[in-house]
Amino acid sequence: MLEQINALLEEAKSKINTCQDLKTLNDIRVEFLGKQGKVTNLLHTMKDIDKEERPKFGQLVNSARNEIEELLKNLQISLNERAIEQKMASEKVDISEPSKIVEKGEIHPLHKVFDKLIDACVAMGFTVLTGPEVEYDYYNFEALNVPKDHPARDMQDTFFITDNILMRSQTSSVQVRAMETMKPPFKIVSPGRTYRADSDATHSPVFHQFEGLVVDENVSLVDLKSMLTQLLKMLFGENTKIRFRPSYFPFTEPSVEVDATCPSCGGKGCRLCKNTGYMELLGAGMVNPKVLEMSGIDSNKYSGFAFGPGVDRLAMVVNKIPDLRMMFENDMKFLEQLK
Ligand code: PHE
Repeated sequence: MLEQINALLEEAKSKINTCQDLKTLNDIRVEFLGKQGKVTNLLHTMKDIDKEERPKFGQLVNSARNEIEELLKNLQISLNERAIEQKMASEKVDISEPSKIVEKGEIHPLHKVFDKLIDACVAMGFTVLTGPEVEYDYYNFEALNVPKDHPARDMQDTFFITDNILMRSQTSSVQVRAMETMKPPFKIVSPGRTYRADSDATHSPVFHQFEGLVVDENVSLVDLKSMLTQLLKMLFGENTKIRFRPSYFPFTEPSVEVDATCPSCGGKGCRLCKNTGYMELLGAGMVNPKVLEMSGIDSNKYSGFAFGPGVDRLAMVVNKIPDLRMMFENDMKFLEQLK
């Protein structure tokens, strides 16, 4: 009887001693201590033993059982510890290794100017609208008082796709879309890409405009001037002065070309402004009543003003860049200087 118990205990011990993993450990537990386990079965044989021997037998089996349980518990603890140690070793980080430098992105200088313009105009109550870049001739020209074959079309070297579809040459097309769909009074701005067959230091075939349009009762040139003064001061500084020169656009009457004092010399004259003290910045004017009428707005009741700076030009002036193309060559060394 005693040998039997001892043999079982020895068997369990030797299995426990060679056990290397939690699954085997569990198998050992089932083998000896499970419902059908070897130790449990031994207890079931109790009834075949002499009465006087039974308590002793029970005691011995129980102590063997406790010993096995204790050994299994300790083994489980050490296996768990070993697993954690292995995991930590495999995930070890060498903190003495030099780190990789993470390049931080920046907003492109052009888009910084866009963002400033949009923020300022939204603060003044303008709604931001966008329109298609592939546009109908109607929205880009005809509804802006530039009929087919009109000489004013020569002002803009346009990429035509078909007779009636083109790459928009100005964001003024969005003015028409706004007037068709919105009820006055309204104020909209429209940032976006525009296209013309033009390429030199100050022109790129793909460029950017920021259109503004206000339609309300009693809107005058004074409103246009005060609005643009605020906007340009925000961009170029509080001391900026602006000046209007007479100009011509088919869709505004009167039309003006707007200049601001050179942000580099403050108006004294320098290389950037070619010693004139001023920078030419944008076209603007009072919306031609004919244009209002074409889009279904009563020109006896309403008037409006519009403006449309080239944003590339503004970004050139803000950043004092001599050649607009430099902004689009993706030369990081150059762009990083404009942070
Ligand atoms: N769309 C004109 C251009 O591209 C600029 C402009 C906008 C002029 C709005 C007047 C009013 O030259």
